[in-house]
Amino acid sequence: MNLSSRITQDIDKACLVLQQGGIVGIPTETVYGLAAVALNAEAVSRVFQAKGRPTSHPLIVHLSPHDDINRWGVLNESAQALANALWPGPLTLLVPRTRLVPDWVTGARETVALRIPAHDMTLALLDAVSDAVVAPSANRFGQVSPTSAEHVINDLGDSVDLVLDGGSCAIGIESTIVECTNSILQILRPGKVSALEVAEITGLSISDMAGPSRAPGMLIAHYAPNARVELCSTISEAEERRGTYISNGTSADVLHHDDLTSYALSLYDHLRNADLRGCDVVLAVLPPDVGLGIAIRDRLSKAAASN
Ligand code: TXA
Ligand code: MG
Repeated sequence: MNLSSRITQDIDKACLVLQQGGIVGIPTETVYGLAAVALNAEAVSRVFQAKGRPTSHPLIVHLSPHDDINRWGVLNESAQALANALWPGPLTLLVPRTRLVPDWVTGARETVALRIPAHDMTLALLDAVSDAVVAPSANRFGQVSPTSAEHVINDLGDSVDLVLDGGSCAIGIESTIVECTNSILQILRPGKVSALEVAEITGLSISDMAGPSRAPGMLIAHYAPNARVELCSTISEAEERRGTYISNGTSADVLHHDDLTSYALSLYDHLRNADLRGCDVVLAVLPPDVGLGIAIRDRLSKAAASN
């Protein structure tokens, strides 16, 4: 099968592949995921293999609004309020798991990450499969997340059975992860849903990334292209450094958007294109430390930490 023929818009076909234990790239509003039926140990192990990801790194369980969330996790008052207000949407809740949830999903942790994504094709797929799926971002471990079906094929090639093409992702960076366990309400990964929104919805105070992060893989270098990523405070600083690089024969690119939504949307695409063009350095201008800017800064800092 040639690689582009693995891209489809046929939800029934994708459903069949998942039900038969296959792994399928799925569109979401954040980034593309690599899905397998959560209760199928063999299928989930293929996801880890395809990504080259350590099996100790737990996976997010993706559900449909028609599923019974309580089968999977124990939602306290805050988690329930967040789910009611923001699902389907770019929010992952980390909650105590139920006995249904296998160790191969959580890496034997006592918590499970749950999310209802906001993408019509994937919601229709989840209903057709009538089983929850795990879906980490559909990239090789540590690399840049995919925001189109082509990105998934470029990264995973023939180790993915099929990719459901739902167009470009509407947000472009991964969901906000909020830990909601007994006494803890904490943002583990910033995203489109801000700490302010979480605080407003729950009526509790919360800070971004407060305390030691418990999400494995959060603190290390991540989201990295081959090009070196350097962080700049202003556009003029980036332009100046670019001039110096160019005069030394080093190819350098400036990454910047005034508008945070556009910045998030184009971030991973830009990093991927820089690699395709053989660019040596990406000079990324840090956006303001507010709203979506917090999430963009987080991803850029981790990409730069991989240099
Ligand atoms: O937007 C998203 O969340 C995308 C789309 C496809 O839904 N998915 C995604 O999955 O970003 P992934 O696996 O690339 O990132 C999920 C993060 C990982 O860093 C993982 O360690 C953390 O969530 N995580 C998942 N389950 C966890 C658990 N039980 N305890 C702690 N961290 C957990
Ligand atoms: Mg990921």
